[in-house]
Amino acid sequence: MRSKILCILFILCLISSFSLDANAKKISIGVLGKSVHPYWDVVRKGMEDAAKKLDVDAMFYVPQSEDISKQIETLETWIGMGIAGISFAPSDPEAVVSVIKKAMKMGIPCISNDTDAPKSGRLCYIGTDNYTAGRIAGENMAKILKGKGKVAICTGSLTAMNSLERIEGFKDALSESPDIVIVEPVLVDYEDTSRAVELAETVLLDNPDLSAFFGVYAFNGPSAAKAVKSAGKVGKVHIVCFDTTDEHLSLIEEGVIDATVGQRQYFMGYLSVVLLANMARVGVENMMMLLPQNEEGDVIIDTGVDVVTKNNLKDYVKLLNNWGVKR
Ligand code: BGC
Repeated sequence: MRSKILCILFILCLISSFSLDANAKKISIGVLGKSVHPYWDVVRKGMEDAAKKLDVDAMFYVPQSEDISKQIETLETWIGMGIAGISFAPSDPEAVVSVIKKAMKMGIPCISNDTDAPKSGRLCYIGTDNYTAGRIAGENMAKILKGKGKVAICTGSLTAMNSLERIEGFKDALSESPDIVIVEPVLVDYEDTSRAVELAETVLLDNPDLSAFFGVYAFNGPSAAKAVKSAGKVGKVHIVCFDTTDEHLSLIEEGVIDATVGQRQYFMGYLSVVLLANMARVGVENMMMLLPQNEEGDVIIDTGVDVVTKNNLKDYVKLLNNWGVKR
């Protein structure tokens, strides 16, 4: 997988360097994320590194927490500015269909990152294969619980595709362990950290026999960890979650989080700029021609995941350093 990404990157950077023109007006690109969180700072870093390398102006915006109206408002503003390309991570894939269709009709190429919106007419998706990543989380959970226990699922969204796909993959993996019960309903906090902690505390109180949390979004694992710590249940209530901010890595070191599925979001930001800059320079069709299509004719760039536990924590930190995402 890594070699595939590197190969795409190499081809794209090569094209960019051929097409640089000192007198050309600087290309403007917008990258839209979902919430203020260290997870998105890494996407932004990827975006900024690529923008510097390819000499383009890149703008980044995230609402404070899940806020589809703010996201649509930002997309409308960028369309009004006539920017050269948009990469977006929609909190609700249905809600952005008309604004993305409008942008595409006006000749502004749009691609999705982190979470997809396939019906919007976007040109491609760059990010995690969320169903598979959810399955991986479920398989790890089954191993940690030795096939038996009660699990609460916490997420920031019940509309964003990445959240729904992770939950589906997680549940499918656990359906192979009939002695693992999932607490319903799934707890949703709209990417509001204090709400996430409150929900985790409540589910712990309501279910004294709870064995584990599955944290779907970046802040869910650490929020569950706070609740588990204050209930004095570290080691009794396990945590499997997503992402690898400093907080996640410290909690793994402490033995509060058992395993996390690390996304490679740096590349979501980096590749968004590389693709859109090249579309502006050599044309959308010429660019799309170079990208591999799946059986449905869609272009999906899977950035991959890394499962991190106490056992491989040191090696993982080295990997982050290699990518320039310092710990
Ligand atoms: C998800 C993002 C989300 C972030 C912060 C990540 O796991 O991929 O969609 O915004 O967590 O909650």
